[in-house]
Parts: sequence; structure tokens; C-alpha cells
Amino acid sequence: MVGSGAREHALAWKLSQSSPAPELFAAPGNAGTALHGTNWPDVAATSSPQLLKRALENGIELAVIGPEAALAAGVGDALRAGGIPVFGPNRSGARLESSKAYAKQFMLRYGIPTARHRVVRDSRSARRALAQFESGVVVKADGLAAGKGVVVCADAAEAEALLSQWYEQRAVPGGGCDVVLEEKLEGKEVSVMAVVDGVRLFTLAAACDYKRAGDGDSGPNTGGMGAYSPAIDVLDEEGMRQLRSRVFEPALEGLKREGLDYRGCLYAGIMLTKRGPMVLEFNARFGDPETQVVLPRLRGDLVELLRAAAQGKLDDGLHPSFSEQTCVGVVLTSEGYPLHAQPAHNLPPFGEAQAGIEGMPVVAFWGASSLRGDRVDAAGGRVLTVCAFGDGVEEARARAYEACAAYHTSLPSGVALRYRSDIASRASQALH
Ligand code: AMP
Ligand code: GLY
Repeated sequence: MVGSGAREHALAWKLSQSSPAPELFAAPGNAGTALHGTNWPDVAATSSPQLLKRALENGIELAVIGPEAALAAGVGDALRAGGIPVFGPNRSGARLESSKAYAKQFMLRYGIPTARHRVVRDSRSARRALAQFESGVVVKADGLAAGKGVVVCADAAEAEALLSQWYEQRAVPGGGCDVVLEEKLEGKEVSVMAVVDGVRLFTLAAACDYKRAGDGDSGPNTGGMGAYSPAIDVLDEEGMRQLRSRVFEPALEGLKREGLDYRGCLYAGIMLTKRGPMVLEFNARFGDPETQVVLPRLRGDLVELLRAAAQGKLDDGLHPSFSEQTCVGVVLTSEGYPLHAQPAHNLPPFGEAQAGIEGMPVVAFWGASSLRGDRVDAAGGRVLTVCAFGDGVEEARARAYEACAAYHTSLPSGVALRYRSDIASRASQALH
């Protein structure tokens, strides 16, 4: 398992439920992956030579890559070259995420619905192109920018001011010059992930995530403050069928035609507009925090599924199925997130706080952190994703928030974590 976030903890948790249970190693891992295997804290997620060396020394039979930075650094290529089956595309496949301009060209080439766009590379070309985006424009830096590269602008003037600042100060997020300008769309968002083996794919259950820091979608964009699955209020069976035929099937065709041999997760961030579903972005990996609410609902054996994908051997017998229950995940962050990552020390293990609540189906996944005895030192930022099951969204939501409150009261004095109070409330309101 390559990575160190709550997504990787959720993957390790689910992988460890496979039968036979795998022997699991995480590079560098976190306080959560340590509960399911051995961490290699000295091996960075992006260090291909070190990862390959450790993998060969330990007879690793399957590598699962979590973060985009590792994929873009070519960790998939390096491990494959060493003969190790990998779940996670090569660097060439990861361009669907690491270059927004490439992703847009790919979508146009294969008829995947997406917002109208132009690519610019300096203030002059930006000014000229902006004339064509009168009714709102979204500015997207081309490269990987950890969520900081996308700005939704009210009008062309706001976009022009932003772009002049980026270009004058040579401060385009991600460090490149290319910027995608995109027509601003309206609609509800949904995230759908698929497991791809190079020639086939299976979609997983849909989820909705919350990107803004504050309640009511206020405040700055973050890595994700919570999620729920299924996406009950935005996508029904028919909607899901549409996404398969309009987005995932053409995408798979494109991956094959481009000769990418894409083996890993393909994530589509989709806006459901009046003109039909439109792809806002592709990611070349599992979503975070979507994974934390989708995997708990997955029935069946994750090692078997990911190994088959890594080996190019998905077959109908492996078609994933999901529990009818709803899973709601709430992210607890350190103070000041997303502007600073304030470390939080000496946190109690999650289970302790839950001991008093009889049979409560709650699980929590740690972000970047390490174990000290049974206490957790968190690097700060997104500290913990607290996930609860329920028969329906209201029950799951109530349980998740009860667990967050209980955990919060168990924190040592002087430590405070914060979380949004409205995760999945939209879904429960839509049902009334
Ligand atoms: P992205 O990283 O491309 O998914 O963009 C981050 C967020 O910006 C999305 O989740 C949307 O909320 C918003 N966004 C991106 N593209 C558009 C668009 N074309 N129209 C409206 N909002 C968008
Ligand atoms: N939750 C959005 C992402 O993983 O990029």
C-alpha cells in the first residue's frame, strides 16, 4: 500500500478483511495502516527506487498506489518494470489527472461530455480567450496542485485579474504555464470510480463529497470535508447507466486506443447539468474521502478484485456489489485547515471513545499520522474520517455525528478538531 492518508487507511482496512488475510506493508503508512500491517515510515510514497527495492526484498505480490503524486512520479512504471503487479496506472495514464489540458483533449477525442474550454499560456492569450467566456468561467492550472489549482470565477474580469497575478508573479499553481479556461456549469456533483484492468472496467457505487471548508459550502476549497454513498439524492439506476455509457465506456475505449494499458482506479468528478452529465475532472486514483464511504459498502474481497485488475484479469465473477446501507463520512481537521497544517499530538485511539456505545457500526480512518504506543500524533490537516453505517441516510448521519461528538470529548485538553456539521444533510432533506 503506497500512501499515508485516510484513503490508504480505508484501503488497508478493507484489504485486510480478505481471505486469506494478506500480509500488508505500507509506505510510508500512518497510524491506521499500522493497525493492519507493517509501516515503512522511511520510504516516501514517491520514491520509486526505494519502493522497488523494499517490494522485491519482501516478495510483494500486489502493489496498490493511493496518491496521485506517486503515480505522476512513475512509481507504477518502476514497480511494473520490476515484475510486480500494480493497481495504479503508469505515469502516461496518470496524465488524465496530472494534466488538465491532456484530460480535456482526451475527452474531446473520445466524445466524453465536458465543459467547453480553451488552453492559454500567458496573459495575452488569456485575455483574448476570456472574451469567449461571458457567463462565468473556471480557471484551472494544468498541473497537480493539491486542490489549489481550480478557481471558479463569477465573470471574465475576475478571471483576468487572477490570471494576470499568476503570470506576473510566475505563480501558476503546480509550477507550469498552461491554464485551462472552462465554461462554468451549473448542477449537482457526483463522484464515480471504476476499477480498470486495461481492457475492462467495473464502476463502483457513487458518492458525493463536500469540498468547501465550511457549513453551507462556504469558505475555501479543501481536499474534502466529508462524503456519503450511495448518492441517493442525485443519481438513480438510470443515471448510473447513463454515466456508464456516456462517460466510462468511451473513456475505456480511449484508454485502449491510446495504448495506455490503464490498470487502476479511474475516478470521474461529474456535474449533472440540464444538458446531461459533464465530466469536471478525471483522477487516476481512488477519491479521498469518497473511498472511505464507498469501500465499507463493498461486498466481497478487495484483494481479489484489485489483483485481478492489476493482472488484466477482471471477469464477471468479480463484479462488485454493494450493501444497501448508507455510509456517511465526516472529516475531522486540525484548526486552521486548509490554510495551515497544525500538528495534533497525543490523540486517543478512535475505538476507545466508541466503547460505551453498544454495537455502533462506526469506523474511523486516520490521515497523515503516526502511532506512539496506542496514542496518535497527527501531522495536521485532515486528521480523521469518521464513517458510520445506517439504514438510510438519516440513521447513518446521526451515528456519524454522535461518534464525532463522543470522540471530541475524549481529546486531551488544548487539542481541538473541527468538522462540518452538514455532511449528508442535503441528502436527508431531499428525502422529505
Ligand atoms: P476539479 O478539480 O476540476 O474537479 O474542480 C474542483 C471543483 O471546482 C469541482 O468540484 C467543482 O465544484 C468546481 N468546478 C470545476 N469545473 C467546473 C465547471 N466547469 N463549472 C462549475 N464548477 C466547476
Ligand atoms: N474528493 C476528490 C478527490 O479525491 O480528488
